[in-house]
Amino acid sequence: MSESGRTPVQETTHFGFEDVPVSDKSARVRDVFSSVARNYDMMNDLMSLGVHRAWKAAFVNRIALRPDMKFLDVAGGTGDIAFRIREKARYGAAITVCDINAEMLRVGKARAVNRGILGPKSEIRWVCGNAEAVPAPVSTYDVYTIAFGLRNVTNIPGALTEARRVLRPGGQFLCLEFSKVVLPVLADLYDQYSFSILPKLGRYVARNEAAYRYLAESIRQFPDQATLARMMEDAGLEQVKVQNLSGGIAAIHTARRI
Ligand SMILES: C[S@@+](CC[C@H](N)C(=O)[O-])C[C@H]1O[C@@H](n2cnc3c(N)ncnc32)[C@H](O)[C@@H]1O
Repeated sequence: MSESGRTPVQETTHFGFEDVPVSDKSARVRDVFSSVARNYDMMNDLMSLGVHRAWKAAFVNRIALRPDMKFLDVAGGTGDIAFRIREKARYGAAITVCDINAEMLRVGKARAVNRGILGPKSEIRWVCGNAEAVPAPVSTYDVYTIAFGLRNVTNIPGALTEARRVLRPGGQFLCLEFSKVVLPVLADLYDQYSFSILPKLGRYVARNEAAYRYLAESIRQFPDQATLARMMEDAGLEQVKVQNLSGGIAAIHTARRI
């Protein structure tokens, strides 16, 4: 009970289908990704039968490249998007991977070592940080990417405002995220897959059913294509465009910071 005699109202948000105090969500998300980090890349291939690779290729292809650009990949995890940007931009690209989870970054750095691209002269920097408070000054980057990350962020409008803040005028914003299936036939199949098969894959392959149940639930809680587009505009991003992938299972949202 507070001094006023009223019980303080605790603000809540969703963690999958569960309501949790706002202050708890980011720790819960961190725990999920700490527990899946080791198996994360293998599980992505298994769960999507490799389709996530095509989505990520389409995503990175949407970047309009110029020489000497500075890239920020937020919620960059184990580096999939950064590695693709590096390949596409060739040498000279300065890429920062920012993720809230040190375990995911550790796996990413190990993958960079295996590719021979870690060291003082590497184009990829790995930084632990929150999408809601990006550790970078105003107008630092030419390109801001976030792939399968925004869904996990507690304050999505806050993260979008941060994206705009760290982008230079003319800078590009690109988000790849699960979205709302637009084909009714596919929607039923997808629901069955998400709530029956996915948690079982999590249980038997990654030994972590809860994390993959969270994945299915968090996708259903994420704003649909039009709602996210509006949220981007509300955050001051302009020229917002949406591209559905695989019937809306995923979508790419792009915008400019003018
Ligand atoms: C599904 S993974 C995506 C990783 C990578 N972008 C990819 O496409 O493979 C989601 C990532 O978001 C990170 N994440 C979750 N909340 C975050 C936040 N508030 N700020 C930064 N990263 C966050 C997690 O740690 C995790 O690495």
